Amino acid sequence: MTAVWVLNGPNLSRLGSREPDVYGHATFEDLTLTCQNEGRMLGFEVDVRQTDDEAELIGWLHQAATDSIAVVLNPAAFTHYSYAVRDACALRTAPLIEVHLSNPAAREEFRHTSVVAAVASGTIAGFGMTSYVLALRALTEMSN
Ligand code: DQA
Repeated sequence: MTAVWVLNGPNLSRLGSREPDVYGHATFEDLTLTCQNEGRMLGFEVDVRQTDDEAELIGWLHQAATDSIAVVLNPAAFTHYSYAVRDACALRTAPLIEVHLSNPAAREEFRHTSVVAAVASGTIAGFGMTSYVLALRALTEMSN
């Protein structure tokens, strides 16, 4: 089975209790199960991870690049300012789809910039957990 990594940045472990008006009531465990179930239907072996640590996220992106593993990435707040995460994404050797639960373009000004978008294969935002489902489905159509 093809491996796909679903990587999540800071504060996403708090889903369910974190600003439910913005991010909904589903927990990170719900998100994990949704991604694993969708992946199974699509023939992917999905590994869902979350970290609050920029260095750890960069390490995972390096490993994905080395092993040519496709990535669905929610960089969370790193989206808006981490050139280090951006540069790690630029190393990719397989598709990398940026996802967001909310629609950052419809929120505060600082969220309107994604430093990652230009080096991602594409971006899906604003559909809650369905953003991740759509990203996994998009991967079935992509070679890079
Ligand atoms: C987010 C949007 C970011 O602006 C925010 O910092 C997050 C979550 C989203 O999934 O909607 O942590 O990436």
